[in-house]
Amino acid sequence: MTTILDGKALAAKTDENTKIEIQDLADRGIIPGLVVILVGHDEASQLYVRNKDKRARKMGIHSVVRNLPETITEEELIQIIHSYNADPTINAILVQLPLPAHINEFHVTTAIAPQKDADGFHPVNLGKLIVNRTEQTPIACTPAGIMKFFKAYHISLDGKKAVVVGRSTIVGKPMAALLVNANATVTIAHSHTKKLSELTQEADILVVAVGVAHFIKAVDVKNGAVVIDVGMDRDAQHKLVGDVDFDEVKNKAAYITPVPRGVGPMTISMLMAQTVSLTKWSSE
Ligand code: GUN
Repeated sequence: MTTILDGKALAAKTDENTKIEIQDLADRGIIPGLVVILVGHDEASQLYVRNKDKRARKMGIHSVVRNLPETITEEELIQIIHSYNADPTINAILVQLPLPAHINEFHVTTAIAPQKDADGFHPVNLGKLIVNRTEQTPIACTPAGIMKFFKAYHISLDGKKAVVVGRSTIVGKPMAALLVNANATVTIAHSHTKKLSELTQEADILVVAVGVAHFIKAVDVKNGAVVIDVGMDRDAQHKLVGDVDFDEVKNKAAYITPVPRGVGPMTISMLMAQTVSLTKWSSE
């Protein structure tokens, strides 16, 4: 029996809790403020930003989308980030990635004040995650949302073999840190990994974030595994699919996230929750 992890339902439940916190803040005269900065016209990024803005507004968060031209310089972008660092109506800043090639992502994520870091990508916040001091620390929204799935479905991680495929700062590395903090035995695999399938076949928990449609097939998965698919890919028919071949793998996994309605909706919910948390922490 396979359980399909329902990201839409879990996101709705998470949002209900976040709304209660927004109401508590409103009672104190505080409105959480989120700015999402989008550089250029990447179509996928525009869609993600629109979804974040829509959800934030629906929940009563003060949402600002700042569209900037592809040609903006790194210095100009950092100036704009500094202005939001100093803006008391803004509690959370997110710069949508990827950025154009002439802008250095590390310089940009480091310019965001750690206490307004909606993504948890600032090295101070990533460092706190590594040393497992995550109280009042923002954490990358996609891995944080995946941890909520484990909790909601009572999936234990202690002593389990976890394999994370992908080593990005957005997903793979913070995911691995969260899993190891939860006492899993963690392997990070990536494009240079040899005999990847042998590794993934051993995984009790398999998290895939590589951005390649249907990269993981049934043969790569252990019977009874928990399979988490972070992919948002397009197949040959331009249909939205994941990094995992869902139709094949679902017969082998004990738990699996679908695409869409899996990890994606939870990522946005975690951004909303984190915006509210940053607001609360700064008001204490
Ligand atoms: N691009 C894809 N995912 C993310 C994310 O979680 N945060 C940011 N800032 N950009 C992204």
